Amino acid sequence: MEKETDMNQKIEQLRSSWENEEFQKKHAKARNLVIRTLRELNGFYIAKTGYGFTRFVESRMKTPESICGKLQRKGRPVDFKTATEVLNDISGVRCICYSVKEIYWIAHQIGKDSRFQIIKAKDYIRKPKKNGYESYHIIMDVPVPTDEKKEKVQTVRVELQLRTMIMDAWASMDNRISYKKDDKISPEMMKRIEKYAKIGRRLDKLIQRTLDEVVEQ
Ligand code: GTP
Ligand code: MG
Repeated sequence: MEKETDMNQKIEQLRSSWENEEFQKKHAKARNLVIRTLRELNGFYIAKTGYGFTRFVESRMKTPESICGKLQRKGRPVDFKTATEVLNDISGVRCICYSVKEIYWIAHQIGKDSRFQIIKAKDYIRKPKKNGYESYHIIMDVPVPTDEKKEKVQTVRVELQLRTMIMDAWASMDNRISYKKDDKISPEMMKRIEKYAKIGRRLDKLIQRTLDEVVEQ
């Protein structure tokens, strides 16, 4: 077990690299390109169906504390180089939609977009996690110009999470109660959380059916 002071020192080192303006800017540009793309797709979707798929979009940069926790869990050294090489979710964008069909439509459009290189797609809707977690994750490399003339391009990895409102409500609740605290959660509580996920899936199906009735798809 590493001494706490050594770990604090490592986090501080990580933090100073993290605060590098260029590093932060590069990641912000990558997330913004994904957000702009979602906005454009939403425009196409409105033209096609009369409705937008976006309830809201949020994005974040992972914090040094969270990086540290994740690298430790993975048994990797806690430093900047390892973090940027090993982690896929330093930059994250989350799009909350109304229905499951919309999620697959967005995933398909993102997959066709030649600017993005899809590293992997994790479909936790078709195959939810054991606790009931559902979401569609796309790990992608996003091009970012590194000079004024936009001649040089670097790629930045972004994790895009696509969820329905119901999936997001469940995940937010789970995040507060049990995520990454598995050892402290009673089996009874785990069962309850799994049951809520099942109720969520049922509700998503009902919402989909109702939307299909009122929206020309
Ligand atoms: P993390 O270390 O949590 O980032 O997981 P991972 O890199 O092994 O990938 P995974 O696809 O399992 O999870 C990626 C992200 O999905 C997480 O950072 C969370 O935002 C979300 N997530 C995954 N599983 C759960 C879950 O059981 N509950 C909640 N609330 N969120 C989850
Ligand atoms: Mg993560």
